[in-house]
Amino acid sequence: MGTTEGSPTGQYAFVVVSNRLPVDHVIDDDGNDAWTRSPGGLVTALEPVMKANHGAWVGWVGQADVDLAPFDNDGIHIVPVPLSADEVENYYEGFSNDTLWPLYHDVISAPGYHRVWWDSYVLANERFARAAAASAARGAVVWVQDYQLQLVPKMLRELRPDLTIGFFNHIPFPPYGIYSQLPWRTQIIEGLLGADVIGFQRVADSSNFLRAVRRLTGFVTRAPIVEVPVEGGAPRSVVARFFPISIDAKSFEDLARLPEVQARAQEIRDGLGNPKTVMLGVDRLDYTKGIGHRLKAFGELLAEGKLSVEDVTLVQVANPSRERVAAYMQLRDEIELTVGRINGDFGTISHQAISYHHHGYPREEMVALYLAADVMLVTSLRDGMNLVAKEYCAARFDNDGVLILSEFTGAWDELKRSLRINPHDIDGLKDAILQAVNMPRAERASRMRALRKRVLEFDVQRWSTEFLAVLVAQGKRSRG
Ligand code: G6P
Repeated sequence: MGTTEGSPTGQYAFVVVSNRLPVDHVIDDDGNDAWTRSPGGLVTALEPVMKANHGAWVGWVGQADVDLAPFDNDGIHIVPVPLSADEVENYYEGFSNDTLWPLYHDVISAPGYHRVWWDSYVLANERFARAAAASAARGAVVWVQDYQLQLVPKMLRELRPDLTIGFFNHIPFPPYGIYSQLPWRTQIIEGLLGADVIGFQRVADSSNFLRAVRRLTGFVTRAPIVEVPVEGGAPRSVVARFFPISIDAKSFEDLARLPEVQARAQEIRDGLGNPKTVMLGVDRLDYTKGIGHRLKAFGELLAEGKLSVEDVTLVQVANPSRERVAAYMQLRDEIELTVGRINGDFGTISHQAISYHHHGYPREEMVALYLAADVMLVTSLRDGMNLVAKEYCAARFDNDGVLILSEFTGAWDELKRSLRINPHDIDGLKDAILQAVNMPRAERASRMRALRKRVLEFDVQRWSTEFLAVLVAQGKRSRG
C-alpha cells in the first residue's frame, strides 16, 4: 500500500464503494458506450445524499477487461474499477461467491478455500481502495458496501487517515464455529475494523462479528463498541451494530396504484387460467433461497390431492445469477428438473402447476406479479434481509395477500405478522401453504396492514439516514 503522503486527494465529499456500479454498461445503436441506471434500492436511497454532497460511486462495470474513464451520470460521478478476466474468475466468482458467499450462508454449499482466489481478492480490494482514496476529498465520508470488499476499510484508512469510513454487510455474518473455517479469518476482521462504523442486518450478525473479534484479536468489545489499540496512542473506537436495510417502499406502492399495472396484474391471472390462488416465488437462482424446498412442499400437496392445479398455480421467477460458478449451474439443473417433473406429473392441457421463468423482469412487471399473487413464498435457508418480502408488502396497498416467510431471513425480525416457516420442515411448510390458501379475508387484511406499516415506516431512506448519522457522529468523535 502507498503512504499517506503519496495519496492524491480527490474532490468528492461522499463516496460509495461497491463491487457493482449502480449503472449498467450497454452499447447503444450507434456502437457507443451508454449507461442505464439500475433501479436498486441502494441507489434510490443514496441518490439524494449523493446529489446534495457532490457524491461519487466507485465500482465495477460488471464486464471483464473493460477499462473506462470516470464520468457523470445524472448527478452522480461514476468511477469504474476495471477487473481482468482472471480477477473475475478468482476475486468475484471464486473468493467472493464460492468462498465467502457459501461460508457466510451457513455453508449450505461447501466453500472452496484457494490461495490464488485469496491473492486475487486482496489485489482487487486494493484497487477499489485506491480508486476510493483518489476520489475522496479531505475529510470525506466513504461508505463501503458488502462482502466483496471487506479489506477496503483498513486499506483505505492506511491510505487516507483523514476519511470517515463506514462499511455495511448486506449478507449474514456467520457464527464463529463456521467463520473460523476461513484460513484468512483474522485478515478479514482486521480489514473490517478499519471502518469507523460496521453495519449488519440483524442483531445476531453483529454479535457473531463481535465474538469473532474477541476470539481472533483479543480486542476489548463493549457492544456495540470495539476498542482497537493504536500504536503509541489512545485506542480507536469502532461501532459494530445492526441497521436492517429496506426498500424504497413508497415507489412500490406508487407503481401498484397505477391503473395500467393493476390491469397487467389481472392479465397475468387471466393468462394463468384464473386459478383461485396464485402463489409466487421471486428469487435470484441461488442455493440460499430454498427454492427446492418450496417445490418439494408444493409437489407433495399436489400429489396428496390437498391442492389441485385447477385451483392453485405457482409462478416462480428465478433470476439468472453467477452462472459460471459450478454450484449455481448444478442448482439450475436440479430446480429445472424438479419443475419439469412436477409439471409433467400434475399439469393439464389448460393448467400448469408451475409457471417458471429463468429471467429478470422490469420493476413494473414485478409489481404486477405481486398484485396478482395471493400468496408470496419466501423460503430462504439463510438470507441477510430478503427485500422481495418487503417489496411484496409495499405493493399490497389493497391490504391483501399472505406472506409466507422463512425465519432464517433478516426480514423475519421485522415482519412478525407473516406466516413463519422453517423451510427444512417440509410438513410445516405444507401446513403454512394450506393456511395461506384458506386464510379468511379479514385475517389477511389485519396481517398485511401490520406488515405494511413496518415496511412503509422503516424504508431505505430511513436506513441510510440512520447509518450516515451514526457514521458522521463517530467520525467526529474520532477525528475531532
Ligand atoms: C446480493 C449481494 C450483493 C450482490 C447481489 C447480486 O444481494 O449482497 O452484493 O450485488 O447479491 O449478486 P451479483 O453477484 O450479481 O452482484
